[in-house]
Amino acid sequence: MTIEILCAVPELLASPFEHSIMKRAQERGLLNIKTHNLRKWAINKHAQIDDYQYGGGAGMVMMCEPLANAIDELQLEGKFDEIIFVTPDGKRFEQKEANTLSLKNRVLIICGHYKGIDQRIRDLYVTQEISIGDYVLSGGELAAAVIIDAVGRLIPGVINDETSALTDSFQDNLLAPPVYSRPAEFRGLAVPPVLLTGDPKKVDAWRQDQALQRTKDRRPDLLTRE
Ligand code: ADE
Repeated sequence: MTIEILCAVPELLASPFEHSIMKRAQERGLLNIKTHNLRKWAINKHAQIDDYQYGGGAGMVMMCEPLANAIDELQLEGKFDEIIFVTPDGKRFEQKEANTLSLKNRVLIICGHYKGIDQRIRDLYVTQEISIGDYVLSGGELAAAVIIDAVGRLIPGVINDETSALTDSFQDNLLAPPVYSRPAEFRGLAVPPVLLTGDPKKVDAWRQDQALQRTKDRRPDLLTRE
């Protein structure tokens, strides 16, 4: 899968993909992440990519031309399956969306800054608008990093233990059960005895029950979701 990012501050994306699972995914050729600096398509030698908004008001808007020229040029190599704009007024990003995106071939993520991007780019190019939560970040880069991490780890072969991603929180609209490692007792707290029985059926039943309890306590809304 190839994920390309079009943004004004590519430096913000230098580190998140250079470690751990995202690094391995790229080394194995399963995930290709390309960052494009929007200033390459700036309208003048001052590297301008934003301008005042029509109608007045505080805050600059990312202009049409740099974005349109960048997307057109990137699409000369082939159409994107999705062109995503990350924005607080988009649809809330959830595990289901991560699953769907992990099946695409080539995706572009556009990151906004300031007041956002000219609406005509959203009308003409964008196929999905995604928010990572009800709060406002200073730019879309970190939101893009969150989405890419959530999607990248779902690509088959990226996580060693194939079943691991399927048992994550949210995959069945359930939170994940508690997990334990050595030692069997720590500061007076023992590992639940069922986990030491070596009986996979009992362990599975316990985990299922714990996941359900945890979801009821913390996120009852998940239990009534499709
Ligand atoms: N850009 C700024 N805030 C954002 C958010 N919450 N989600 C996605 N993109 C954003």
